[in-house]
Amino acid sequence: MIVLGVESSCDETGIALYDTQRGLLAHALHSQVAMHEEYGGVVPELASRDHIRRAIPLLEQVLKNADVPRSAIDAIAYTQGPGLAGALLVGASVACGLGLALDRPVLGVHHLEGHLLSPLLSRDPPSFPFVALLVSGGHTQLMRVDGVGQYTLLGETLDDAAGEAFDKSAKLLGLGYPGGPAISRLAEFGDPGVYKLPRPMLHSKDLNFSFSGLKTAVLTVVKNQITNICEQDKANVARAFVDAIVDVLVAKCVTALKETGLKKLVIAGGVGANRQLREALDAAAHKRRFRVYYPELEFCTDNGAMIAFAGAMRLQINPHAARRDYAFNV
Ligand code: KG4
Ligand code: ZN
Repeated sequence: MIVLGVESSCDETGIALYDTQRGLLAHALHSQVAMHEEYGGVVPELASRDHIRRAIPLLEQVLKNADVPRSAIDAIAYTQGPGLAGALLVGASVACGLGLALDRPVLGVHHLEGHLLSPLLSRDPPSFPFVALLVSGGHTQLMRVDGVGQYTLLGETLDDAAGEAFDKSAKLLGLGYPGGPAISRLAEFGDPGVYKLPRPMLHSKDLNFSFSGLKTAVLTVVKNQITNICEQDKANVARAFVDAIVDVLVAKCVTALKETGLKKLVIAGGVGANRQLREALDAAAHKRRFRVYYPELEFCTDNGAMIAFAGAMRLQINPHAARRDYAFNV
């Protein structure tokens, strides 16, 4: 079965073809980062319009790269949400229009399920069950995953998501959008321990997170230096921020593994691309004898492959999950 995946929840248009027998056949992505950069964040209206421009050319490119005709597509999966309404509508319309034209069924996929299952696309995928840390721009969740569709929420953020904390703190330091990679790069030049930022909920007994206080702490440091914060000091603040957030994320993962008795940890979502987080998790895994799995770097942030894959997994469990009524809601 060949499933076409369409992702358009935010500022990336992703199209991919996944074959349940041969694996990922092809995928293509267009990032709108350059377009939104000058506004310091995603402009929803611009995002929707750009998805419209990109979707069909990307589809043609993917079909060409996979060397399959349109008629080879058996089903179409699209990101149903969460995301920007206008942007989601574009992907849903493309999927349903194509489904109608090709007489193929379509199914809406939860964006977070796409992220969650994306590590299974790697060459050395984890087997179920595992603990998953989902760290994206909009969500931070710890989950126990027993199979496709068998997810138990262990903990989540009570306010800002990890990616949001990265982005907002980067903005406070005058770094561009998206802030996550920028603050991470700057942190490499920072001296550890110059600034000590809070590690919110590090010692709380649960598996929840809270990152808004950390962002406020960055604001306080930056405000106190507002007259002239030098480049080295900016790097020191970036370093303190990254050290704090990584400490909390790693500690909660370790606790989740302890509590569930599982030995496999899976990282998913955009922040999963973070170098410092990966290094700290690898060190913890070595010390505490668990294994950590990451998606391929290109599948950490939004992409069509994870949607095609999640759709294919859903259809393997229930072939009736895809429908031909082409009425969608996002
Ligand atoms: O999963 P994703 O592409 O989109 C959502 O579903 O939200 O995640 C985007 C988030 C942004 O907040 C971005 O700053 C963050 O992931 N991110 C990073 C890195 N790459 C992306 N954060 C820290 N370090 C990175 N290398
Ligand atoms: Zn995402």
